[in-house]
Amino acid sequence: EKGGYDYFMLKEIAEQPKAVADTLLGRIDAAGSLCLDELRISAAELREVDKVVIVACGTAFHAGLIAKYAIEHWTRIPCEVELASEFRYRDPILDPRTLVVAISQSGETMDTLMALRHAREQGSKVLAICNTNGSTIPRESDAVLYTHAGPEVAVASTKAFLTQLVACYLVALYLGQVRGTKWGDEVGAVIRDLSKISHEVERVLRTMEPVRELARTLAGKNTVLFLGRHVGYPVALEGALKLKELAYMHAEGFAAGELKHGPIALIEEDLPVVVVVPSPRGRSVLHDKIVSNIQEIRARGARTIVIAEEGDEAVVPYADHLIRIPVTPTLLQPLVATVPLQVFACELATARGNEVDQPRNLAKSVTVE
Ligand code: F6R
Repeated sequence: EKGGYDYFMLKEIAEQPKAVADTLLGRIDAAGSLCLDELRISAAELREVDKVVIVACGTAFHAGLIAKYAIEHWTRIPCEVELASEFRYRDPILDPRTLVVAISQSGETMDTLMALRHAREQGSKVLAICNTNGSTIPRESDAVLYTHAGPEVAVASTKAFLTQLVACYLVALYLGQVRGTKWGDEVGAVIRDLSKISHEVERVLRTMEPVRELARTLAGKNTVLFLGRHVGYPVALEGALKLKELAYMHAEGFAAGELKHGPIALIEEDLPVVVVVPSPRGRSVLHDKIVSNIQEIRARGARTIVIAEEGDEAVVPYADHLIRIPVTPTLLQPLVATVPLQVFACELATARGNEVDQPRNLAKSVTVE
Protein backbone atom coordinates (compact mmCIF):
# COMPACT_ATOMS: atom_id res chain seq x y z
CA GLU A 1 0.00 0.00 0.00
CA LYS A 2 3.07 2.23 0.15
CA GLY A 3 3.17 1.92 -3.64
CA GLY A 4 6.79 0.76 -3.73
CA TYR A 5 8.06 3.48 -1.39
CA ASP A 6 9.78 2.73 1.92
CA TYR A 7 7.57 5.18 3.78
CA PHE A 8 4.15 6.72 3.36
CA MET A 9 5.82 10.09 3.65
CA LEU A 10 7.92 9.47 0.52
CA LYS A 11 4.84 8.31 -1.33
CA GLU A 12 2.88 11.35 -0.21
CA ILE A 13 5.68 13.74 -1.19
CA ALA A 14 5.69 12.11 -4.63
CA GLU A 15 1.91 12.43 -4.92
CA GLN A 16 2.02 16.21 -4.56
CA PRO A 17 1.75 17.13 -8.24
CA LYS A 18 -1.44 15.08 -8.49
CA ALA A 19 -2.78 16.38 -5.18
CA VAL A 20 -2.28 19.96 -6.36
CA ALA A 21 -3.88 19.29 -9.76
CA ASP A 22 -6.82 17.45 -8.16
CA THR A 23 -7.47 20.34 -5.79
CA LEU A 24 -7.78 22.68 -8.78
CA LEU A 25 -9.86 20.27 -10.82
CA GLY A 26 -13.33 21.53 -11.69
CA ARG A 27 -12.76 24.83 -9.92
CA ILE A 28 -11.54 26.84 -12.90
CA ASP A 29 -13.89 27.16 -15.87
CA ALA A 30 -13.02 27.26 -19.57
CA ALA A 31 -12.93 31.06 -19.51
CA GLY A 32 -10.33 30.99 -16.73
CA SER A 33 -12.66 32.16 -13.96
CA LEU A 34 -13.16 30.43 -10.66
CA CYS A 35 -16.34 28.52 -10.01
CA LEU A 36 -16.71 27.81 -6.33
CA ASP A 37 -20.47 27.38 -6.15
CA GLU A 38 -19.74 24.59 -3.69
CA LEU A 39 -19.15 27.32 -1.07
CA ARG A 40 -22.50 27.81 0.49
CA ILE A 41 -21.68 31.41 1.35
CA SER A 42 -23.35 33.68 -1.20
CA ALA A 43 -21.49 36.20 -3.32
CA ALA A 44 -23.53 38.93 -1.60
CA GLU A 45 -22.29 37.78 1.81
CA LEU A 46 -18.71 37.56 0.59
CA ARG A 47 -18.96 41.13 -0.65
CA GLU A 48 -19.84 42.22 2.89
CA VAL A 49 -16.75 40.62 4.45
CA ASP A 50 -14.51 43.25 6.02
CA LYS A 51 -11.99 41.02 7.76
CA VAL A 52 -10.64 37.51 7.30
CA VAL A 53 -9.37 35.56 10.29
CA ILE A 54 -7.55 32.29 9.70
CA VAL A 55 -7.28 29.74 12.51
CA ALA A 56 -5.24 26.55 12.32
CA CYS A 57 -2.48 24.56 14.03
CA GLY A 58 0.97 23.37 13.05
CA THR A 59 1.53 22.94 9.35
CA ALA A 60 -1.98 24.15 8.55
CA PHE A 61 -1.14 27.36 10.45
CA HIS A 62 1.84 27.84 8.15
CA ALA A 63 -0.49 27.53 5.17
CA GLY A 64 -2.60 30.25 6.80
CA LEU A 65 0.41 32.54 7.24
CA ILE A 66 1.09 32.27 3.52
CA ALA A 67 -2.59 32.81 2.70
CA LYS A 68 -2.49 36.17 4.48
CA TYR A 69 -0.03 37.54 1.94
CA ALA A 70 -2.25 36.38 -0.93
CA ILE A 71 -5.56 37.53 0.57
CA GLU A 72 -4.36 40.99 1.48
CA HIS A 73 -2.54 41.51 -1.80
CA TRP A 74 -5.31 40.30 -4.08
CA THR A 75 -8.38 41.47 -2.17
CA ARG A 76 -7.19 44.31 0.11
CA ILE A 77 -9.25 42.76 2.92
CA PRO A 78 -7.35 42.79 6.21
CA CYS A 79 -6.41 39.25 7.23
CA GLU A 80 -5.23 37.91 10.58
CA VAL A 81 -3.80 34.48 11.15
CA GLU A 82 -3.82 32.92 14.54
CA LEU A 83 -2.92 29.66 16.21
CA ALA A 84 -6.26 28.05 16.97
CA SER A 85 -5.11 27.22 20.49
CA GLU A 86 -4.51 30.92 21.27
CA PHE A 87 -7.44 32.41 19.43
CA ARG A 88 -10.40 31.77 21.67
CA TYR A 89 -8.72 32.64 24.91
CA ARG A 90 -7.94 36.24 24.10
CA ASP A 91 -11.52 37.35 23.42
CA PRO A 92 -10.98 38.08 19.71
CA ILE A 93 -13.02 40.74 17.95
CA LEU A 94 -15.45 38.99 15.64
CA ASP A 95 -18.76 39.92 14.06
CA PRO A 96 -20.99 38.78 11.19
CA ARG A 97 -18.78 40.54 8.66
CA THR A 98 -15.72 38.58 9.72
CA LEU A 99 -15.00 35.53 7.58
CA VAL A 100 -13.22 32.92 9.65
CA VAL A 101 -11.25 30.33 7.70
CA ALA A 102 -10.43 27.16 9.61
CA ILE A 103 -7.71 25.06 7.96
CA SER A 104 -7.39 21.41 8.98
CA GLN A 105 -6.22 18.31 7.15
CA SER A 106 -7.95 15.87 9.47
CA GLY A 107 -10.99 17.98 10.25
CA GLU A 108 -10.79 16.66 13.81
CA THR A 109 -8.23 18.94 15.49
CA MET A 110 -9.80 19.97 18.78
CA ASP A 111 -8.06 23.35 19.05
CA THR A 112 -9.30 24.33 15.60
CA LEU A 113 -12.79 23.01 16.30
CA MET A 114 -13.05 25.01 19.52
CA ALA A 115 -11.85 28.15 17.72
CA LEU A 116 -14.48 27.82 15.02
CA ARG A 117 -17.23 27.16 17.55
CA HIS A 118 -16.25 30.33 19.31
CA ALA A 119 -16.30 32.27 16.03
CA ARG A 120 -19.77 31.01 15.15
CA GLU A 121 -21.06 31.95 18.58
CA GLN A 122 -19.99 35.51 17.79
CA GLY A 123 -21.99 35.39 14.55
CA SER A 124 -19.09 35.03 12.13
CA LYS A 125 -19.29 32.78 9.09
CA VAL A 126 -16.79 29.94 9.09
CA LEU A 127 -15.29 28.46 5.97
CA ALA A 128 -13.40 25.20 6.49
CA ILE A 129 -10.51 24.12 4.29
CA CYS A 130 -10.30 20.41 4.95
CA ASN A 131 -8.99 17.18 3.48
CA THR A 132 -11.35 14.73 5.17
CA ASN A 133 -14.88 14.39 3.87
CA GLY A 134 -17.57 14.55 6.49
CA SER A 135 -15.22 15.19 9.40
CA THR A 136 -16.27 17.35 12.34
CA ILE A 137 -14.76 20.69 11.32
CA PRO A 138 -16.51 20.91 7.92
CA ARG A 139 -19.74 19.60 9.47
CA GLU A 140 -19.74 22.42 11.99
CA SER A 141 -18.76 25.12 9.49
CA ASP A 142 -20.97 27.26 7.27
CA ALA A 143 -19.06 26.26 4.17
CA VAL A 144 -16.26 23.97 3.15
CA LEU A 145 -13.67 23.86 0.43
CA TYR A 146 -12.20 20.38 0.35
CA THR A 147 -8.59 19.78 -0.53
CA HIS A 148 -8.19 16.72 -2.71
CA ALA A 149 -4.89 15.37 -1.46
CA GLY A 150 -6.31 11.90 -0.82
CA PRO A 151 -5.69 10.17 2.51
CA GLU A 152 -2.52 11.35 4.25
CA VAL A 153 -1.11 8.54 6.38
CA ALA A 154 2.34 9.78 7.45
CA VAL A 155 2.03 11.84 10.60
CA ALA A 156 4.06 14.70 9.12
CA SER A 157 1.90 16.65 6.73
CA THR A 158 3.21 17.12 3.18
CA LYS A 159 0.72 16.82 0.34
CA ALA A 160 -2.08 18.15 2.53
CA PHE A 161 -0.02 21.30 3.10
CA LEU A 162 0.45 21.94 -0.61
CA THR A 163 -3.26 21.46 -1.23
CA GLN A 164 -4.12 23.74 1.70
CA LEU A 165 -2.06 26.40 -0.04
CA VAL A 166 -3.92 25.83 -3.29
CA ALA A 167 -7.26 26.07 -1.50
CA CYS A 168 -6.17 29.29 0.21
CA TYR A 169 -5.14 30.80 -3.13
CA LEU A 170 -8.54 29.79 -4.55
CA VAL A 171 -10.36 31.45 -1.66
CA ALA A 172 -8.27 34.60 -2.04
CA LEU A 173 -8.78 34.75 -5.79
CA TYR A 174 -12.47 34.01 -5.42
CA LEU A 175 -12.92 36.82 -2.91
CA GLY A 176 -11.15 39.03 -5.42
CA GLN A 177 -13.38 37.80 -8.25
CA VAL A 178 -16.61 38.26 -6.31
CA ARG A 179 -15.68 41.69 -5.03
CA GLY A 180 -14.06 42.92 -8.20
CA THR A 181 -11.00 44.15 -6.34
CA LYS A 182 -7.74 43.83 -8.22
CA TRP A 183 -9.64 41.58 -10.59
CA GLY A 184 -7.93 41.98 -13.87
CA ASP A 185 -4.78 41.02 -15.62
CA GLU A 186 -2.90 40.10 -12.49
CA VAL A 187 -5.44 37.69 -11.01
CA GLY A 188 -6.29 36.13 -14.37
CA ALA A 189 -2.58 35.50 -14.85
CA VAL A 190 -2.31 33.94 -11.40
CA ILE A 191 -5.05 31.45 -12.25
CA ARG A 192 -3.13 30.49 -15.38
CA ASP A 193 0.07 30.12 -13.34
CA LEU A 194 -1.76 28.03 -10.75
CA SER A 195 -3.02 25.66 -13.40
CA LYS A 196 0.57 25.04 -14.50
CA ILE A 197 2.04 24.72 -11.02
CA SER A 198 1.64 20.96 -10.60
CA HIS A 199 4.14 20.48 -13.44
CA GLU A 200 6.60 22.71 -11.62
CA VAL A 201 6.18 20.66 -8.44
CA GLU A 202 6.85 17.58 -10.57
CA ARG A 203 10.05 19.17 -11.92
CA VAL A 204 11.25 19.94 -8.40
CA LEU A 205 10.70 16.33 -7.37
CA ARG A 206 12.89 15.14 -10.21
CA THR A 207 15.88 17.13 -8.93
CA MET A 208 15.91 16.07 -5.28
CA GLU A 209 18.88 13.66 -5.26
CA PRO A 210 21.45 16.34 -4.28
CA VAL A 211 19.13 17.42 -1.44
CA ARG A 212 19.10 13.85 -0.12
CA GLU A 213 22.89 13.62 -0.36
CA LEU A 214 23.26 16.89 1.50
CA ALA A 215 20.83 15.79 4.21
CA ARG A 216 22.85 12.64 4.84
CA THR A 217 25.99 14.68 5.44
CA LEU A 218 24.20 16.69 8.13
CA ALA A 219 22.90 13.75 10.16
CA GLY A 220 25.36 14.44 13.00
CA LYS A 221 24.39 18.10 13.45
CA ASN A 222 22.39 19.37 16.43
CA THR A 223 20.84 22.50 14.98
CA VAL A 224 19.62 23.76 11.64
CA LEU A 225 18.26 27.28 11.12
CA PHE A 226 15.87 28.39 8.39
CA LEU A 227 15.49 31.92 7.07
CA GLY A 228 12.98 33.48 4.72
CA ARG A 229 11.20 36.71 3.93
CA HIS A 230 7.67 37.48 2.77
CA VAL A 231 6.00 34.15 1.89
CA GLY A 232 9.40 32.52 2.31
CA TYR A 233 9.18 33.19 6.04
CA PRO A 234 6.32 30.72 6.70
CA VAL A 235 8.12 28.32 4.36
CA ALA A 236 11.14 28.59 6.68
CA LEU A 237 8.87 27.89 9.67
CA GLU A 238 7.49 24.85 7.92
CA GLY A 239 10.98 23.58 7.03
CA ALA A 240 11.96 23.89 10.69
CA LEU A 241 8.80 22.14 11.91
CA LYS A 242 9.35 19.21 9.54
CA LEU A 243 12.91 18.84 10.80
CA LYS A 244 11.90 18.97 14.47
CA GLU A 245 9.17 16.41 14.19
CA LEU A 246 11.00 13.98 11.89
CA ALA A 247 14.71 14.34 12.68
CA TYR A 248 14.25 15.37 16.35
CA MET A 249 16.75 18.16 15.77
CA HIS A 250 16.69 21.67 17.08
CA ALA A 251 15.41 23.67 14.16
CA GLU A 252 14.13 27.22 14.04
CA GLY A 253 12.71 29.42 11.35
CA PHE A 254 13.30 33.16 11.36
CA ALA A 255 12.22 36.10 9.27
CA ALA A 256 15.54 37.00 7.63
CA GLY A 257 15.03 40.66 8.51
CA GLU A 258 14.99 39.71 12.20
CA LEU A 259 18.49 38.24 12.07
CA LYS A 260 20.18 41.43 13.15
CA HIS A 261 17.70 41.83 16.00
CA GLY A 262 19.01 38.78 17.79
CA PRO A 263 19.27 35.43 16.05
CA ILE A 264 22.50 36.32 14.27
CA ALA A 265 24.21 35.70 17.61
CA LEU A 266 23.48 32.01 17.07
CA ILE A 267 25.58 31.81 13.91
CA GLU A 268 28.78 29.88 14.42
CA GLU A 269 31.29 27.95 12.37
CA ASP A 270 29.68 25.32 10.13
CA LEU A 271 26.11 25.83 11.41
CA PRO A 272 23.75 24.77 8.61
CA VAL A 273 21.40 27.61 7.65
CA VAL A 274 18.76 27.09 4.99
CA VAL A 275 17.72 30.29 3.21
CA VAL A 276 14.60 30.56 1.08
CA VAL A 277 15.30 33.28 -1.46
CA PRO A 278 12.46 35.29 -3.01
CA SER A 279 12.37 35.76 -6.75
CA PRO A 280 14.80 38.40 -8.07
CA ARG A 281 11.98 39.58 -10.34
CA GLY A 282 9.08 41.52 -8.90
CA ARG A 283 9.99 42.25 -5.30
CA SER A 284 13.66 42.68 -6.08
CA VAL A 285 14.29 44.78 -2.97
CA LEU A 286 13.55 41.77 -0.83
CA HIS A 287 15.78 39.62 -2.96
CA ASP A 288 18.72 41.98 -2.56
CA LYS A 289 18.19 42.19 1.18
CA ILE A 290 18.22 38.45 1.58
CA VAL A 291 21.36 38.15 -0.51
CA SER A 292 23.07 40.45 1.97
CA ASN A 293 21.71 38.31 4.84
CA ILE A 294 23.32 35.27 3.23
CA GLN A 295 26.60 37.19 2.91
CA GLU A 296 26.43 38.21 6.57
CA ILE A 297 25.87 34.75 7.96
CA ARG A 298 28.45 33.21 5.68
CA ALA A 299 31.01 35.74 6.80
CA ARG A 300 30.35 34.41 10.32
CA GLY A 301 31.01 30.85 9.29
CA ALA A 302 27.51 29.48 8.55
CA ARG A 303 27.18 26.69 6.04
CA THR A 304 24.63 28.24 3.67
CA ILE A 305 22.04 26.06 1.99
CA VAL A 306 20.30 28.33 -0.48
CA ILE A 307 16.97 27.66 -2.17
CA ALA A 308 16.74 30.00 -5.13
CA GLU A 309 15.04 30.35 -8.48
CA GLU A 310 16.63 29.02 -11.63
CA GLY A 311 18.62 31.82 -13.21
CA ASP A 312 19.19 33.70 -9.94
CA GLU A 313 22.94 34.16 -10.24
CA ALA A 314 23.35 36.72 -7.44
CA VAL A 315 23.23 34.01 -4.77
CA VAL A 316 25.85 31.76 -6.35
CA PRO A 317 28.96 33.26 -4.69
CA TYR A 318 27.47 32.88 -1.18
CA ALA A 319 25.84 29.45 -1.44
CA ASP A 320 27.72 26.47 -0.05
CA HIS A 321 24.86 24.37 -1.37
CA LEU A 322 22.42 25.61 -3.98
CA ILE A 323 18.99 24.10 -4.46
CA ARG A 324 17.21 25.34 -7.56
CA ILE A 325 13.47 25.80 -7.85
CA PRO A 326 11.48 26.82 -10.94
CA VAL A 327 10.62 30.42 -11.69
CA THR A 328 7.18 31.07 -10.17
CA PRO A 329 5.19 34.18 -9.22
CA THR A 330 6.28 35.27 -5.74
CA LEU A 331 3.02 34.45 -3.97
CA LEU A 332 2.98 30.93 -5.41
CA GLN A 333 6.62 30.18 -4.63
CA PRO A 334 5.83 28.25 -1.41
CA LEU A 335 4.31 25.48 -3.56
CA VAL A 336 7.72 24.73 -5.02
CA ALA A 337 10.02 25.96 -2.23
CA THR A 338 8.52 23.70 0.46
CA VAL A 339 9.17 20.47 -1.43
CA PRO A 340 12.97 20.38 -0.97
CA LEU A 341 12.49 21.05 2.75
CA GLN A 342 10.18 18.04 3.07
CA VAL A 343 12.67 15.83 1.27
CA PHE A 344 15.48 17.24 3.39
CA ALA A 345 13.70 16.46 6.68
CA CYS A 346 12.61 13.01 5.55
CA GLU A 347 16.14 12.05 4.48
CA LEU A 348 17.72 13.42 7.65
CA ALA A 349 15.25 11.46 9.74
CA THR A 350 16.10 8.30 7.83
CA ALA A 351 19.82 8.95 8.19
CA ARG A 352 19.35 9.34 11.95
CA GLY A 353 17.46 6.05 12.10
CA ASN A 354 14.12 7.60 13.03
CA GLU A 355 10.69 6.24 12.29
CA VAL A 356 9.63 8.55 9.45
CA ASP A 357 5.91 7.83 9.28
CA GLN A 358 5.33 7.71 13.03
CA PRO A 359 7.59 10.21 14.80
CA ARG A 360 7.83 9.77 18.54
CA ASN A 361 5.26 11.51 20.75
CA LEU A 362 3.08 12.60 17.81
CA ALA A 363 -0.38 11.58 16.62
CA LYS A 364 -1.91 12.16 13.21
CA SER A 365 -4.94 13.94 14.53
CA VAL A 366 -4.86 15.80 17.79
CA THR A 367 -8.32 15.43 19.23
CA VAL A 368 -7.57 16.92 22.64
CA GLU A 369 -7.05 20.58 23.47
C1 F6R B 1 2.93 18.70 11.04
C2 F6R B 1 1.55 18.30 11.28
C3 F6R B 1 0.76 19.02 12.32
C4 F6R B 1 -0.65 19.32 11.80
C5 F6R B 1 -1.51 19.95 12.90
C6 F6R B 1 -2.89 20.30 12.40
O1 F6R B 1 3.52 17.94 10.03
O2 F6R B 1 1.05 17.42 10.62
O3 F6R B 1 1.40 20.19 12.71
O4 F6R B 1 -0.54 20.17 10.71
O5 F6R B 1 -1.62 19.05 13.98
O6 F6R B 1 -3.57 19.17 11.94
P1 F6R B 1 -4.84 19.30 11.05
O7 F6R B 1 -4.46 19.92 9.75
O8 F6R B 1 -5.35 17.89 10.86
O9 F6R B 1 -5.82 20.16 11.79
